[in-house]
Amino acid sequence: MTEAKTYYVTTPIYYVNDVPHIGHVYTTVACDALARFMRLDGRDVMFLTGTDEHGQKVEKAAIAAGEETQAFVDRVSQRFRDLRGPMGLTNDDFIRTTEARHRESVQQLWRELVERDEIYLGTYAGWYSVRDEAFYAESELIDGLAPTGAPVEWVEEPSYFFRLSAWQERLLTFYDANPDFILPEARRNEVVSFVKGGLLDLSVSRTSFKWGVPVPDDPDHVMYVWIDALTNYITAAGYPDTDSTDFRRCWPADLHMVGKDILRFHAVYWPAFLMAAGIAPPKRVYAHGWWTKDGRKISKSLGNVIEPLALVDRYGLDQVRYFMLREVPFGNDGDFSHSAMVGRINGDLANDFGNLAQRVLSMIAKNCGGRVPTPGVLDAGDQALLDAAGGLLDTMREHMLVQAFHAALVAQWRVIAEANRYVDAQAPWALRKTDPDRMATVLYVLAETIRRLAILAQPVTPGAAARMLDQIAVAEDARDFAHLGPDHALVPGTVLPKPEGVFPRYVDEEESVS
Ligand code: MSP
Repeated sequence: MTEAKTYYVTTPIYYVNDVPHIGHVYTTVACDALARFMRLDGRDVMFLTGTDEHGQKVEKAAIAAGEETQAFVDRVSQRFRDLRGPMGLTNDDFIRTTEARHRESVQQLWRELVERDEIYLGTYAGWYSVRDEAFYAESELIDGLAPTGAPVEWVEEPSYFFRLSAWQERLLTFYDANPDFILPEARRNEVVSFVKGGLLDLSVSRTSFKWGVPVPDDPDHVMYVWIDALTNYITAAGYPDTDSTDFRRCWPADLHMVGKDILRFHAVYWPAFLMAAGIAPPKRVYAHGWWTKDGRKISKSLGNVIEPLALVDRYGLDQVRYFMLREVPFGNDGDFSHSAMVGRINGDLANDFGNLAQRVLSMIAKNCGGRVPTPGVLDAGDQALLDAAGGLLDTMREHMLVQAFHAALVAQWRVIAEANRYVDAQAPWALRKTDPDRMATVLYVLAETIRRLAILAQPVTPGAAARMLDQIAVAEDARDFAHLGPDHALVPGTVLPKPEGVFPRYVDEEESVS
């Protein structure tokens, strides 16, 4: 047997300066859907998320909260870890940058860079934004603020530098040779022109505070939080033990999923650090867009945070996951609104998919003795519907491999629409009297279509998909994509449990009152 191909996917690690909001959960849910898809598709998945716990921003937040820093980061990190159950996450590991395994890993990477003469000691004099944890040149400031709008402060201190300037040409060659390294394409072009504009050496240590990983052999310095944070991706893969089975299995990562605001760190600094240390860069960095509320980025500093668990309580987990991945073409920004959410829940989920399953399963319960009906000979229309559902995996896989979640879902909903048209055209309720054998065939074709659709719905809406599969008595070990084909079709005569709706309509409280 050939070994399953690994798929290593990561979220950014989240700053623990504040509790999770919907922007964080968005990235993690997207990675989770991808991880679930790849597992069902037979890949050996490693899905990593975690928390970024060092640096000035976090230290300041701890001081503001009046807590000891380690106790503060322990507490806030736990809030991120606690999202696992309520958000239906299936990460295989959760990394914290304050863990010993990570400290060892970053310090080893540092030593490697020093040994290769990629790091030297100098003095940094320039602007720093604590909110962005980023250095800015005078020329980048706009009205005295960072280009992101964040306040900056003047910093002048001894600092180690990474020879980033020496990596310009090698980075450009790397982007050229790996056209899919940065997606979407428009973002790739931005990065390429940034690098073409020339790179300055990067300050990679700080001396004015202590909350970080000490620089080996020079403990007056702590490492710049970004070199520390980015290294988490190799720590979790087993670095510095590059000969370990884990490292060889996982590295290079298949995908770092990030928001567009942190693309430069991932697509410029990170591959340069890695190449400089003799380690292969990741295969892809995908930069998604932002959720906005009334046109403004959702963030703590703007005070318009949407609390993920409140959203799930109100709308349901599958509903929230589906909305996030379907509403906005992945990569674009999206504005968050209650009416858009309700539109997706009542339209796509309740009316289209939920109603299809509900209609078919209750007809089977009533008219076929609650057993999978026995089909007669299939006609061209029956076969066409089954083939459409059968062909979906290839289409969806193609989209998922380039993180086009919305396109995968659109393709799936096209088949759902086709199934609904088939129900209307075949009118099985009328066949009940005129041609019960044909009714059985039609209901069988529909139940089998639902089986395929529900298997494919698991990555994005795992709860509802599982309930649908329970209702058509599909065994738990027969739910992966290897079971999509006709060889694993529903067996006529199988007893089915009583059907229940899986995608309820959302009714606004005011509406339900009136
Ligand atoms: N700690 C760094 C990442 C280090 S990765 C080696 C960081 N943390 S963060 O908590 O500020 O942001 C984490 C991710 O959340 C980023 O990818 C960011 O783009 C994303 N989002 C934060 N607010 C967001 C929205 N309003 N919408 C979508 N994603 C956003 O940066």
